[in-house]
Amino acid sequence: MFISSTSTHKFLSYVRMGLSGLLLILCSGTPLWAADEQQAETMINNVCSTCHKITGEGESRFNLKAPELMWAGSKFQKDWMIGWLTGTEPLLYAKSYRWDQSQQPVPHMTVSHQEAEALAGYIETHLQDPRVKSNAIDMSTFSKQEAKFGEEIFTQHSYIGCHQIMVNGKKTGGPQSASFLNSGKRLKADWIYRFNSNPPDFVPHSGEFVGDVSALGLRYVTGFIATRGAKDFPYYEPWKSSAFDHPSVEHGAQIYKEYCSQCHGAEGKGDGPAASGLNPKPAVHANIPFEKLPMEYLYNVIYYGGKSVGKSPLMPYWGLTIGGKQGVADVIAYLKATFKGGENAVKVAGGTGPSGVCPQPRKTKRAPGKFRNMQNPLPQNAQNVKAGATLFQETAKPLACMNCHGIQGDGQGPMGAALSPAPRNFTCGETMKKLLDGQLFWIIKNGSPGTGMMAFSGMPDNQIWQLIQYIRSLAK
Ligand code: HEC
Ligand code: HEC
Ligand code: HEC
Repeated sequence: MFISSTSTHKFLSYVRMGLSGLLLILCSGTPLWAADEQQAETMINNVCSTCHKITGEGESRFNLKAPELMWAGSKFQKDWMIGWLTGTEPLLYAKSYRWDQSQQPVPHMTVSHQEAEALAGYIETHLQDPRVKSNAIDMSTFSKQEAKFGEEIFTQHSYIGCHQIMVNGKKTGGPQSASFLNSGKRLKADWIYRFNSNPPDFVPHSGEFVGDVSALGLRYVTGFIATRGAKDFPYYEPWKSSAFDHPSVEHGAQIYKEYCSQCHGAEGKGDGPAASGLNPKPAVHANIPFEKLPMEYLYNVIYYGGKSVGKSPLMPYWGLTIGGKQGVADVIAYLKATFKGGENAVKVAGGTGPSGVCPQPRKTKRAPGKFRNMQNPLPQNAQNVKAGATLFQETAKPLACMNCHGIQGDGQGPMGAALSPAPRNFTCGETMKKLLDGQLFWIIKNGSPGTGMMAFSGMPDNQIWQLIQYIRSLAK
């Protein structure tokens, strides 16, 4: 349409020819662009504004034909907008924006690629909202663990009542508001942050919900939304940051004395004054060869607490207390320098005996009937056993099973001796043959509260069933 001015065509073909000298024209704000801009402006005023509000204040959805665009430059990523306007992006409202009038998705008008670029460029520069500050949220330090917390907030604070996301590979959530399946491609993080802090500032009387979320929670849920569908988002890994380059063992020892010894004991024997009242018991650090544990796990369990890795909330989250990343780096350096596990393993208080014994004493709770009766739906074959082995030995998150249950599955992993009760010995046929598949499934999904067995709640069901096939293959 409007881009068909010959001068613009000429310009585009120069770019295609890759003549870098001519690109200077682009940088110096050429009359060609000014023409594009003007045409974009005209189109927005004459066409887009017949449905979209492009100036003034936010208004109730029930008085509008389409979402407001006066802040579209602050809100949308340019590439997404080009895709949207050329019709290559999925529709946003499964039940239409005005679901009170129609429950069918309504296709959007489309324009040519060149027109879309000009429109998106114009919107990006001219339709800005001063309330949205750039770099309000620092996404360069956003970690996977934070995204996980964001998902919990998203689900628990009812955001999921209105916006669809992927949960366990399935579209989940109420589809009456904009889809978040690809929100990380569509929305700018700074916009999400400002919008979330008070949605009615932008969309009053439109069904928007105001959640009771802390400042940190706002960061988590914003980052979660800002990474949905974003391809290869480079999650931050704090244990690879400079705080870990030269940690201080001495400072770590001080932290251990002041904060950790009350539960884990002055010498890491799990016998601090609080231990008698705790269930599960604090881990016996003296029995853990800390060098062998993955940094991601150590960082998360100390910075974000037991609950963050599917363990007991009795293990507090220390990040806010002991000086953030640096404090955590220092105390981990102390743990690694001090506790090597192995030979001098301390007898675990109230323990159920060494982890390798068979038959193994077992007090694990019985799964509810609905779980107990479950059957492994996967065909029994080498492929599934192999997939289970990889999860068990290497990839299961928050921590590979091997770290507690042992490489052989005999319960004697690096952390096996630190836990009371001991991890299950899967090689012990006598104990294992009494356990139904559904029982194993339930414990893996939910953990065994009051023991070191963590919940693998984020693991897809089929992976749990693969693990069970592998575990079964170990029994003698
Ligand atoms: C006939 C009415 C109509 C016209 C004309 C129209 N739009 Fe839309 N637009 C909508 C509706 C309705 C939606 C809601 C999306 C949906 O239903 O999936 C929408 C959504 C959008 C969105 C996403 C908004 C959001 O908050 O998620 C953008 C961006 C957009 N339109 C830009 C434009 C531009 C730019 C033009 C002009 C080239 C334009 N639209 C013309 C009706 C229209
Ligand atoms: C209030 C008591 C308490 C304090 C204080 C405490 N912990 Fe813990 N910690 C626990 C408990 C209980 C567990 C076991 C959690 C479980 O198994 O579910 C645990 C587990 C751990 C683990 C994980 C071992 C495993 O089983 O995976 C590490 C590492 C750890 N604590 C480090 C620390 C550090 C470092 C400090 C001090 C900064 C500290 N803890 C302070 C109670 C405490
Ligand atoms: C941090 C240590 C730890 C990790 C990691 C761990 N477990 Fe465990 N696991 C335990 C402990 C301790 C028990 C014993 C619990 C009890 O006595 O109730 C246990 C028990 C079990 C049981 C026995 C259930 C029953 O009813 O007897 C199964 C099955 C199991 N774990 C599977 C797994 C799988 C699969 C993984 C990896 C995806 C895993 N565990 C990772 C510590 C761990």
